[in-house]
Amino acid sequence: MSRGRRRLLPVLALLLVAAAGPSSSAEAELVFGFYNATCPIAEGVVFAEMRAILQEDATLAPSLLRMHYHDCFVQGCDGSVMLRSRRGTAERDAAPNRSMRGFDAVERIKARLEMLCPLTVSCADIIAMAARDAVHLSQGPWYEVETGRRDGNVTVAEYAANDLAPPDSNIVDVKTFFSVKSLNSRDIAVLFGSHSIGTSHCAAFQKRLYNFTGAMDQDPTLDARYARRLRKLCPRAGGRGRTKVPIDPGSGFTFDLSYYRHVLATGGLFQSDGSLLHDASTRGYVEKMANASSPDEYYKDFAAAMVKMGRTDVLHGSQGEVRTTCGVFVD
Ligand code: HEM
Repeated sequence: MSRGRRRLLPVLALLLVAAAGPSSSAEAELVFGFYNATCPIAEGVVFAEMRAILQEDATLAPSLLRMHYHDCFVQGCDGSVMLRSRRGTAERDAAPNRSMRGFDAVERIKARLEMLCPLTVSCADIIAMAARDAVHLSQGPWYEVETGRRDGNVTVAEYAANDLAPPDSNIVDVKTFFSVKSLNSRDIAVLFGSHSIGTSHCAAFQKRLYNFTGAMDQDPTLDARYARRLRKLCPRAGGRGRTKVPIDPGSGFTFDLSYYRHVLATGGLFQSDGSLLHDASTRGYVEKMANASSPDEYYKDFAAAMVKMGRTDVLHGSQGEVRTTCGVFVD
């Protein structure tokens, strides 16, 4: 499919959703403490497991935060990112998800909860809670997570390829992808701060370093010194390798404001990060957070934006299911 057509898909999806009736995010019936009566230990169990998981492998914190975003943007926050296909047609088989990690961690939490509260806590809720705990355990804020999501049992690789913005997106593309999910410019600027933790494979940004316009050139909007460092870390010939670099160098495992300082200094790793500077409202937010003396306001904004993203097209009530294993094979 041509790039132009691929980029139109979110707009078409928006029109279809509008035609189908009120946005399902508006109808979402999530609550704080959904499991208070049925499994009061649920949140504590997720947190304890997350602490143990991150003690074994701290690099899984960003992966679980990313998983919540990738789950929510593809058919809503319904745990479908976990489903498997023997034919390679599940969301997790799609290009944007091939670098996804943390599936075993979610399964481990699920197995523990199945022992304590069988068939009660959905995979989608586990992912939402794990993302929150991952942020908190990376020295970020703790915030209340709404729960009550049910799990979907449909997974289509193409949906993931269509609904997740590629890293070479400009700000117009980014706004289109996010507005389909009822998220506005401010939500974009806030949620992108998630790139304060984690790593990226060279392949996701290599074009910026070696062949930006097809003339073997470098992206002129990327800070030249940073680009030189990246070229050393990601040599042209090693582009398809497994090398990873921190997205927020210097503080790649601490959830803080340094991401915004890098972006403001034209050192955002992906074009989509840099694109925040190309729109008045997202740029304003970057400037504000890059110059903030404390992360408190950002933490509040982040909590609100995560709760909002967590409402995206959720299944609730008698919709969907709660299953014993998150990563079952659908075919
Ligand atoms: C236009 C939007 C976005 C684009 C293009 C994008 C792109 C990417 C890419 C290319 C990677 C590196 C993957 C790899 O090579 O391993 C990445 C990592 C990551 N993304 Fe995003 N992202 C976007 C939005 C978000 C949002 C909204 C969140 C969270 C709410 C998020 C959280 C993360 C995290 C935490 C990582 C690090 C993962 C790890 O270390 O395993 N991203 N993103």
